Amino acid sequence: MDMKRAWWKEAVIYQIYPRSFMDSNGDGIGDLQGIISRLDYLKYLGIDVIWLSPVYQSPNDDNGYDISDYQDIMDEFGTMADFDELLAAAHERGIKIVMDLVVNHTSDEHRWFVESRKAKDNAYRDYYIWREGKDGQTPPNNWGSCFGGPAWQYDGETGMYYLHLFSKKQPDLNWDNPKVREEVFDMMTWWCDKGIDGFRMDVISMISKTEEMPDGEAHGMYGSFDPYCVHGPNVHKYLREMNEKVLSKYDIMTVGETAGVTTEQAKQYAGEDAHELHMVFQFEHVEGDGKYGKWTDEKIPLIRLKKILSRWQTELYGKAWNSLFWDNHDQPRAVSRFGDDRPQYREMSAKMLATCLHMMQGTPYIYQGEELGMTNYPFQSPEEFRDIESINAYREWCEEGPVPHETFWSCITFKSRDNARTPVQWDDSPQAGFTTGEPWIAINPNYTQINAKAETADPGSVFHYYKKLIALRKAYPVIVYGRYELLMEDDEDLYVYTREMDEEKLLVVCSFCDHETGFTIPDEFAKASCLISNTDGNYDRAEITLKPYEAFVLRTI
Ligand code: GLC
Ligand code: CA
Repeated sequence: MDMKRAWWKEAVIYQIYPRSFMDSNGDGIGDLQGIISRLDYLKYLGIDVIWLSPVYQSPNDDNGYDISDYQDIMDEFGTMADFDELLAAAHERGIKIVMDLVVNHTSDEHRWFVESRKAKDNAYRDYYIWREGKDGQTPPNNWGSCFGGPAWQYDGETGMYYLHLFSKKQPDLNWDNPKVREEVFDMMTWWCDKGIDGFRMDVISMISKTEEMPDGEAHGMYGSFDPYCVHGPNVHKYLREMNEKVLSKYDIMTVGETAGVTTEQAKQYAGEDAHELHMVFQFEHVEGDGKYGKWTDEKIPLIRLKKILSRWQTELYGKAWNSLFWDNHDQPRAVSRFGDDRPQYREMSAKMLATCLHMMQGTPYIYQGEELGMTNYPFQSPEEFRDIESINAYREWCEEGPVPHETFWSCITFKSRDNARTPVQWDDSPQAGFTTGEPWIAINPNYTQINAKAETADPGSVFHYYKKLIALRKAYPVIVYGRYELLMEDDEDLYVYTREMDEEKLLVVCSFCDHETGFTIPDEFAKASCLISNTDGNYDRAEITLKPYEAFVLRTI
């Protein structure tokens, strides 16, 4: 299969959640100058692109995912001059910057919404989705929001309800209104003209809603909006329009966040000739395993994980492009979730996970701190949560709901988004070198052991292992473009696959278990060389015993 080459296919992307990355002025909140001060660290790691979580003006009901001005920078993060400096400083180092585009909804403090709620005949009324309630004080339908509670908010000003699939401070935009699309496209053009290098599109699969809005299938207290607002009737039409009017005019990359997407739908959003997006984030391997909604304390069984990831690898091959990730700002820490964060296994399993992901076909994303093997935070009480989703979920399921504290606690501490949002651990000085002040969210106490200063100085660290994986991807096109094949699909402990391009073949072997396992190296790899290993293994013999969480890659030529 002949694959079209593209820079964004060959890139490694690093996600920055600015609030928790680096604080430059001691107010306890990460900021743009903080990011600038760490660009050399990222350059040394070897990444090509930064995906910047939202830095726009926002009242921070959902940490910047509720935007009140798309063309201004959040005061806490700095100014537009700081942004311009960041963009220039990144470009100087050959690093591109991809912006978060949050246009399914705005903040309720955005001037469009401030206008919209004023009167039924306001010029901005149709920028949002307003409906009459059912007889007086009952919402138009039973839909629940992603952050708990109903998806409709009553507004006394005009006596109607507005739709918010997320918090009530995040009203959904009405994409069926051509003026909304025009405003969004103009805003995107403005950023592109500034020289940014792409967009990560927040919940982009939800922008189109059905005209009819019937009750959804009930899950607990509320009904699901899923078939009516996810992959809605006009989503592809609007994305093609966006592509035609904005994206196609620039050499930028795009990745859509498309929860619930299937491989078939992914080909529509991000097919080689779809003229929509370059790639999408799929969530099958990180979602749908909950006991209470999304909440669970169970790890996904390896066989299921392999099945999901392999389906994405093979079904998109040559047709659409994969994005590869274990975690992000909405997910727990990779090593705690998919690996093993007990001290004796943390480093090995973090390196193993990195091997498993970075040797796959697609564009890999590293979430800040993942390259250090940062772990979930040891929460002691619900007061420590800062995240609106965790706070609401604890109240809804536990305090006001049916699930006993002990049962829910192990689930919410395992999956809370705040696990990923504790500050990056830069060194072993107080507050982990993140701030000289009081951090906005607790710092993981393990920063004295796990931090960037120690790891950059130690050639055997998780950091250096990531650095090596990134360098390998640049050296061997087979890692980017090769065909993927899963071996030993029924094995409960090992994830083994091959990559193949022309005469070249790789064997990737990853142990996902905390005990030793026997493994037979296939004949065709008998004379192969070892590209990388997370231990001092000898792969010259056919019969080998793998250590807990051992990982290695062999190459035939
Ligand atoms: C996306 C973001 C998440 C945010 C939500 C609403 O899922 O990744 O952080 O809360 O959209 O914007
Ligand atoms: Ca700051």
